[in-house]
Amino acid sequence: MHKEITLTIIKPHAVRDNNTAAILTMMSQAGFRISALKMIRLSTFRTGEFYAEHEGKSFCEQLVEMMSSGPIIVAILEKDNAVSDLRQLVGNTDPEKAAPGTIRRLFGKSIRENAIHASDGTDNAIRESAFFFSDMERF
Ligand code: CDP
Ligand code: MG
Repeated sequence: MHKEITLTIIKPHAVRDNNTAAILTMMSQAGFRISALKMIRLSTFRTGEFYAEHEGKSFCEQLVEMMSSGPIIVAILEKDNAVSDLRQLVGNTDPEKAAPGTIRRLFGKSIRENAIHASDGTDNAIRESAFFFSDMERF
């Protein structure tokens, strides 16, 4: 066991629905420490950069449109096994397939509007954290 970081984003629809506090509370109660946190709005250009791995996929254009449709909450979370533990707390990409009690099951609306993003590996967690936060914004 060693301390690890992961990057999470509360997606625009979940912020709009006023679920920010409930989602952050679930993360805190699961043992994650918030080491960086902010509310921002991404341009379509910056969203495209963030999701470069999905470029060319059928859902990419609508994903970028959805993610840039309003403010998001971005956070770096720290914990032992943060990446896999957060993916477990988040649940399946499709909220209907996500296990009961997971964030996507509770707050997701569709496979696209699935409430939050969570890094899928330690390398991506480091890349995504650097994408959003400067050294001055991380503690
Ligand atoms: O977020 P996760 O790693 O679970 O899934 P992904 O396959 O990396 O897809 C990234 C995001 O694209 C998802 O979280 C959804 O918001 C969106 N997506 C979509 O709009 N339609 C799909 N068929 C699959 C994913
Ligand atoms: Mg992914």
